[in-house]
Amino acid sequence: MTIGDVMEMPKTLDTVPALEKAEALTITDRRTGRVYEVPIANDTIRAIDLRQIKVKPDDFGLMSYDPAFMNTASCKSRITFIDGDKGILRYRGYPIDQLAENCTYLEVAYLLLYGELPNSKQYQEWKRNITFHTMIHESLKKFMDGFNYDAHPMGMLIATVAAMSTLYPDAHNIHDPSSRTKQTHRLIAKMPTLAAFAYRHSMGMPYVYPDNSLSYAENFLNMLFKMPSESYKPNPVISKALDVLFILHADHEQNCGTNAMRSVGSSHADPYSSVAGAAAALYGPLHGGANEEVLKMLAEIGSKEKVPAFIKEVKEGKGEKRLMGFGHRVYKNYDPRAKIIKRMADEVFDVTGKNPLLDIALELERIALQDDYFVKRKLYPNVDFYSGLIYQAIGMPTAAFTVLFAIPRTSGWIAQWGEMLQDPEQKIARPRQVYIGLDERQFVPIDKR
Ligand code: ACO
Repeated sequence: MTIGDVMEMPKTLDTVPALEKAEALTITDRRTGRVYEVPIANDTIRAIDLRQIKVKPDDFGLMSYDPAFMNTASCKSRITFIDGDKGILRYRGYPIDQLAENCTYLEVAYLLLYGELPNSKQYQEWKRNITFHTMIHESLKKFMDGFNYDAHPMGMLIATVAAMSTLYPDAHNIHDPSSRTKQTHRLIAKMPTLAAFAYRHSMGMPYVYPDNSLSYAENFLNMLFKMPSESYKPNPVISKALDVLFILHADHEQNCGTNAMRSVGSSHADPYSSVAGAAAALYGPLHGGANEEVLKMLAEIGSKEKVPAFIKEVKEGKGEKRLMGFGHRVYKNYDPRAKIIKRMADEVFDVTGKNPLLDIALELERIALQDDYFVKRKLYPNVDFYSGLIYQAIGMPTAAFTVLFAIPRTSGWIAQWGEMLQDPEQKIARPRQVYIGLDERQFVPIDKR
């Protein structure tokens, strides 16, 4: 496999001959008494197979209705596996804890994109390609300067990554594997630079250019925290922790942001525009923005003693007020990423000093995990519950937390985008609707309304 093979998919996607194996669903339409056989493959039926079910020949046919994709698979994927009930997360088959323990983020990004961990030669070449694309166009710097001093770093990141589409017109050649490879290098390399510049702009500090002698995480820390007047050496414990956090956030199958990436990309928009769409989805407080909300919540609670009262408020709020960093659409068990982060937090706090909000977080977790409300609904800490405490301890302002999520998720977004483009079954994403509005009516002139 060479770099040029990036994101190639095997041609045979699945297609188990379901009916031959008698794997089928028999449906009786009680409206007509007709019986239909619908093939089952991978424990899934194809929604389009329901279309044949009609009362009259000119009916549109039966559809499935699934707001928020609660039980609809939008694609077949070979990238990330999650078993939410068991709390399992694997990238390309490798358990997340093994990757977090033994790999660098760049090895994991390669794994997500190419399907295999790199050998030494591939890794050196990959690292070199990423390192040599970290500089951003000077006009992007000016673009960044145009934001108000208090602009949210995620807003700046989304806008500047979208602006990259104007600087690299070759990115529109999405069907050319070499162009996809080039944009992949650019995106993974430049996201930390954009994120660091957004942070420096919001702090009113001069930008620090990338330093090719540093690792991916060290370079990011250097661009964030180096003062022009002083030398700066990133602490190895902090840069290692950041690298592990990057691994944990790199991909998470069809979450809201990735679904946006695939959806925007399905119209054959360039990858910068698609990443901007995905990052915009990530920005929301129910998704990647939750890490910021967790810290606000912990600060609002203020002390360990006030935790029971807060939990009571959440329960009485009946969904209005949520325990941020708790609950997940897929995990109905402890999020495996949260477990790793919780363990790592102690190592970071040994260097930075303990985050005073940690005690509140631990108490919140302790009480929630024993409380019937949370137990019954299978609400456990998710990745965002502890990550913010580490980000805060290393000196990141709360508003910048979600950009720390967007940087590593970029590799997952691109891997998913590449898979989507090469999947012969994929088309422009275009859901159906159930129209429940008025039937046809006649126009009424304004003076008669
Ligand atoms: N606090 C209190 N109650 C909750 C929470 C929570 N954090 N999460 C879910 N619930 C309750 C809901 O009120 C609902 O109760 P009900 O059955 O009495 O109506 C039940 O649990 C199911 O919740 P849904 O909203 O239907 O679950 P869904 O799968 O749609 O939502 C989500 C998942 C959005 C993550 C939700 O758990 C949540 O809002 N959590 C807080 C925000 C958060 O931490 N987001 C980050 C997720 S991880 C990520 O995106 C990186």
